Amino acid sequence: MESQGSGRDGWSSRSAFILAAIGSAVGLGNLWRFPAEAGANGGGAFVVFYILCVVLIGLPVLLSETLIGRHGQSSAPESARRLARESGASRHWSILASLGVFSAFMIVSFYCVVGGWVLHYIWVFISDLFQTGLTGGAFQGRDPAEIEAIWPSLAGNGALTVGLDFAFLAITLFFVARGVSSGIEIMAVWLMPAFFILLIAITIYGSFGGAFSETVDYLFTFEPEKLTGPVMLAAVGQAFFSLSLGVSGMITYGGYVGRNVNLAGTSVIIASADTFVALVAGLCIFPIVFAAGLGANAGPALMFQTLPHAFQSMPLGSVIGILFFVMVGVAALTSSVALLEVPTSWLMEKTGLRRVPAACTIAFGAMILGALSALSTNQLADFYPLNFIPLFEGQGVFDVLDGLTSKIFMPVAAILTTIFVGWVADRRLIDSETGLSGGLQVIWRFLVCWLCPLALLAILAVGIFPDSIG
Ligand code: PHE
Repeated sequence: MESQGSGRDGWSSRSAFILAAIGSAVGLGNLWRFPAEAGANGGGAFVVFYILCVVLIGLPVLLSETLIGRHGQSSAPESARRLARESGASRHWSILASLGVFSAFMIVSFYCVVGGWVLHYIWVFISDLFQTGLTGGAFQGRDPAEIEAIWPSLAGNGALTVGLDFAFLAITLFFVARGVSSGIEIMAVWLMPAFFILLIAITIYGSFGGAFSETVDYLFTFEPEKLTGPVMLAAVGQAFFSLSLGVSGMITYGGYVGRNVNLAGTSVIIASADTFVALVAGLCIFPIVFAAGLGANAGPALMFQTLPHAFQSMPLGSVIGILFFVMVGVAALTSSVALLEVPTSWLMEKTGLRRVPAACTIAFGAMILGALSALSTNQLADFYPLNFIPLFEGQGVFDVLDGLTSKIFMPVAAILTTIFVGWVADRRLIDSETGLSGGLQVIWRFLVCWLCPLALLAILAVGIFPDSIG
């Protein structure tokens, strides 16, 4: 089916768009990054401030991005150019979207590396199930140190991590190559409900483990003295990454939305669902970790090193392990598809290439960059020093791409987006796209014109000069 009016491929319905956009937002950012960040930044203070950021910054930027896309009905840069042209502004405003396209390309390359790790853990638990059977916990009779060693031995195996990265990228490519309505949409419509069922089931199961109330205390007890500058910064950045903002993702998906869809309403649904999943992921992961007597602040290793260890003491541990990592893989896939679609739709429009060759070209580029990322997380990191950029001193390709996108490109793109929508674009066009009126419109204009650009400017400043706060 096609979106109304144009002959362009598009979402077949409003709910298809909502599911695909939720699929884009809900991903490793919620399940892997959010609990790790909350754990590393003191729990409650981070979580409460994070929610504030989603409402005050995330929501207006999300609405801004989707409305640019829906108005333009094109790839992200062309949509921005169109709105600029119709507003009598410079067509160079499309830079806000071009920057996003570039970021999406960089993110998809390392995102698939993490997707590959997830594939590995699905396999680890499947083979464990065959070895130990259904009863009891996972990894029976194995030393905790041995279980924790799975993670460094994976990260240290260059050929395996690169192979898994390519496998995850190939699955992503398959859905993008099939197109919007018959690939991306079908995947989201089937996988997102499955994801939600798994998430709720695992959370309820974990809540019987006994450490549930400890988790609720940990995540929601607000201690103002813990809300330091760096914690606030981490929360803002996380909200941004989690809602897929600043990479033209929501502009691209908005470009496939029909005229009859209320964008303000759908933005609220998408942001609520994403935040709900992040919070439930916290409620799902921490009881398992606490019940096993493990620490909450393991950072990125929380999911890949701490959690597998915790499945050892859990009845049906290997089955729960499989289900858990399948759930993470599903969430990651619906996000990596969004990330690959952004540069693919741009390349199609730019060169006139058909979808399949365009998607393959972008995937090929992501393969090369991804292989560098995959290798740079292990001992080969020393071969790829980017020490000439002070901010990234001593980091491998993976961390440089992550830092460059989340600390610089995403905030810059979003600042430009809010200035463009709030100050530059024709107000009547914007108002007709948002459909807001009265008090809600006043609040929206205050947020998009003032609060968002100023708050994001602050994030950018501390991203580049991290020593200036604290
Ligand atoms: N929001 C996704 C996540 O939380 C990541 C992502 C970023 C996806 C940007 C698309 C665009 O994992």
